[in-house]
Amino acid sequence: MKKLFAFVLSTAMLFSLLTGCGGGGASSSQPAPSSSAPQSEASGGSEAAPASSAPEESTPEAAPAGGTIGVCIYKFDDAFMTTYRNALQKILEDKGYTVTVVDGNNDQAKQNEQINTFITQGVDALIINPVMTSAAATIIDTVKTADIPTVLINREPTADEMAAYDKLVYVGCDAAQSGTFQGELILETANKGDINGDGKVSYIMIQGDPENIDAKLRTEYSVKALTDAGMEVEQLNLTRGDWDREKGQTICANDLAQFGDQIEVVFCNNDDMAVGALQSIQSAGRKVNEDIYLVGVDALDAALNEVKAGNMTGTVLNDANGQAAKAVECMEGLLAGDTYAAGSQSVYVDYVKVTPANVADFMG
Ligand code: BGC
Repeated sequence: MKKLFAFVLSTAMLFSLLTGCGGGGASSSQPAPSSSAPQSEASGGSEAAPASSAPEESTPEAAPAGGTIGVCIYKFDDAFMTTYRNALQKILEDKGYTVTVVDGNNDQAKQNEQINTFITQGVDALIINPVMTSAAATIIDTVKTADIPTVLINREPTADEMAAYDKLVYVGCDAAQSGTFQGELILETANKGDINGDGKVSYIMIQGDPENIDAKLRTEYSVKALTDAGMEVEQLNLTRGDWDREKGQTICANDLAQFGDQIEVVFCNNDDMAVGALQSIQSAGRKVNEDIYLVGVDALDAALNEVKAGNMTGTVLNDANGQAAKAVECMEGLLAGDTYAAGSQSVYVDYVKVTPANVADFMG
């Protein structure tokens, strides 16, 4: 029996080594971006695969179907994280885990308490969507001290912070890629975003919470895609909308009142803000894809409907289901004894560009 278990475990680990967190699904893992996770020699600059996981004499306990998992979400009142946490909960429960998902209410102190409570309760593993990226070092220190295998999601810490604990992995996406895709969506329009033909693309940027790397890199790389393609750009305004639909609506209404027809492109760091912005665009009598362009990120159902109807130029799939599946794979790898080398602790799921041409593939 023990031999059989060891065989199953080592086979699972070999598979895990080859594919990064066990791979398997539609999602792929990719190199970490140089800006946030320098590659170590161990990573070979490519796949973010677990580093050393050969089973030893003291074979670790089996990943417990029926084990207890604590999931901390930065706040429940976030459209994208709602889809994500529902997917996560379903995958874990379908696999037989006992899952508790808690709402951090966007309050890091509260989330710290929740993590401590989970540790006191003796959970087998944690999946944490930090409230503040800047709190990552403290969180990592806490889970390391308690020796709890941990998967961080959605808000990526630095590689240096993660290097403190080898039973820790980050599962997310390469935020720069989503920004680049947003810029490409504009470049793919008939006039490359220069609707009025004055030789430059004049845009407003509605930003997520800038503490979050997704907001920083989407802001940077969406515009960089345009300038890399030789376009001149003019930023009319950049305003923090904290990922929130109502804020997106208000910011866009104010900008339209101030800049009017000068605005050719509305970049939103996420779909919820884009859907809010669309309401203001329509109230101002503007028509997306005719006299203004609008792009978001996430591929929320509401945004997919608007892309299909021609009311958004496009969006970028932020694959909540793929990330949830990958997070669970990585968690199971950790429970089976995987450890991660410094510099190889980020596992990425690809973003996908969504336009009217392929939107049907993402609906339903
Ligand atoms: C998503 C946003 C979400 C944020 C939460 C981002 O990746 O695009 O919609 O609000 O994560 O951290």
